[in-house]
Amino acid sequence: MVDNDKIEALVTQAAVAFSQAEANGSLDELAQARAAHTGKDSPLRAMQRTLGGLSNEDRRLVGSQIQTGLKQMESVLAGAEDRLRARDLQARLVRETVDVTADIQLHPVGAVHPLTGLIHRMCDVFVAMGWQVAEGPEAEAEWLNFDALNFTADHPARFMSDTLFLDPPENHRLLRTHTSPVQMRALLSRSLPVYVVAPGKVYRADEYDATHLPVFHQIEGLAVDKGLSMADLKGTLDHLARAMFGSQVRTRLRPHYFPFTEPSAEMDLLCFVCHGASATDPSKPCRTCKSQGWIEWGGCGVVNPAVLRAAGVDSNVYSGFAFGMGVDRTVMFRNNASDLRDFVEADVRFSRQLEGVAR
Ligand code: DAH
Repeated sequence: MVDNDKIEALVTQAAVAFSQAEANGSLDELAQARAAHTGKDSPLRAMQRTLGGLSNEDRRLVGSQIQTGLKQMESVLAGAEDRLRARDLQARLVRETVDVTADIQLHPVGAVHPLTGLIHRMCDVFVAMGWQVAEGPEAEAEWLNFDALNFTADHPARFMSDTLFLDPPENHRLLRTHTSPVQMRALLSRSLPVYVVAPGKVYRADEYDATHLPVFHQIEGLAVDKGLSMADLKGTLDHLARAMFGSQVRTRLRPHYFPFTEPSAEMDLLCFVCHGASATDPSKPCRTCKSQGWIEWGGCGVVNPAVLRAAGVDSNVYSGFAFGMGVDRTVMFRNNASDLRDFVEADVRFSRQLEGVAR
């Protein structure tokens, strides 16, 4: 026979455990105490299982005492749980308080790199005339970088000293030395007529100093259509020069040699600083143009028929012009950036300073 005192003692024990868990502020501990005192392995439940051996009368009596004990436990437990949850919520509300009046530090916003900004702007000039923007890989086939552009096998530009070849050498791959291989890619992949510009990085084994970078940028242009001539080339580049430097810019074409154009020229810009004066007046030396009066902007010419033939284009029907202008130099001239190293040293203050002007 189970006596009621025993049940009451169990209830007291449970209440102590529950209030201990509450005092510790632990809902986990409360759940454990609940299992220990009211779960199926608890002493009270074990007691319940012995009821079968009792007389009917005792069973009813003890059964209802056990039920009362369980109810008492549950009620103490529910109170403890309610208070613990309320305390938890209160703590969370305090922890997660948002002070909407606090001063916030936004992450500093970056800036478009002046070269990227200018490339977009240069492309826009051509897109507005109906040209398309083309791309090619920086790791390029030697054939596209040189052979297809009519460079002879012994042309000095191929030599290791200028060109960065990629291992293994028998694969004949290199870091493109100019954007001109995109000319051939465009001719091989597009239908005629072709009007494309291809901006991008180019690589040469150059020194790293204020006026040289081993990685720099060019924007290549290629137009192949019926009846194009040097006059179209000059008109196009003059238009680009005015878009870049303003309507007062003065340009000239100076004869030059490139294997993939014939005739070939370099386009020069009248020096922005001395306006040409330093070339004739020794008392006015100019650092910007090295007292030449003119600054070299890029190479150009009428596409060599050998290049058209290498791309399978009938050079009796089609002709074209091409150019490759230096983007880094363009930013330097437009924005008075005198040290090319600023372009690659990733100081956002440099980009921010030129952001508005380069775009
Ligand atoms: N690829 C030449 C260089 O890097 C520049 C150039 C000259 C590009 C003449 C052309 C061109 O498209 O027709 O120096």
